[in-house]
Amino acid sequence: MKTILHLSVSLLLFSGCNQQQADKSAGNLAVQVQELKEKYRPGFGEYMIGIQLHHSKLWYAGINNNWKLADYEIGEIKESFESIKDVETDRPESKTVGIIEPAIASLTAAIVQKDEKEFRKSYDLLTAACNNCHTTNHYEFNVIITPTAPPVNNQDFTAKP
Ligand code: HEC
Repeated sequence: MKTILHLSVSLLLFSGCNQQQADKSAGNLAVQVQELKEKYRPGFGEYMIGIQLHHSKLWYAGINNNWKLADYEIGEIKESFESIKDVETDRPESKTVGIIEPAIASLTAAIVQKDEKEFRKSYDLLTAACNNCHTTNHYEFNVIITPTAPPVNNQDFTAKP
């Protein structure tokens, strides 16, 4: 009887100890996950470089009436801004993403309608909104324009039948 009691007390202590250990390693894991998130989180500027490339590709897709590609590029731009809102929560600029949203909506509509004239107009709106956000956030020296040459030479922007 004494032995059984002894055994159960030790088991109890042992499992309590295990619980503590488990709590500790879960805590460590949470800290590690947080550290990794910080380390591998794209910075605001990195999102912007991606957006810059999509902005340029979008132009060549639209003026070539390559609506499938244009739809893809505007989708990528939209997603990047959604990620900025989700991920860059400690940057006050993330609260101003709304500046770009009407232009994205207007471009999306032009692309759905396969309307090049509307596309060109909405593209100007988009570029103006990029610059508007930069000015609002004191990055007015990052001036965005309609591209004058394709951003890459290893991609064909023309529409395929
Ligand atoms: C929510 C506001 C906002 C909008 C909208 C916005 N930007 Fe930016 N952009 C910024 C901020 C803030 C920076 C500076 C980021 C940093 O480096 O910390 C920046 C920087 C940039 C840079 C410089 C990146 C570098 O390191 O060289 C480019 C290029 C750029 N943006 C392109 C664009 C384009 C193209 C659009 C429109 C499709 C756009 N941005 C829309 C806020 C915005």
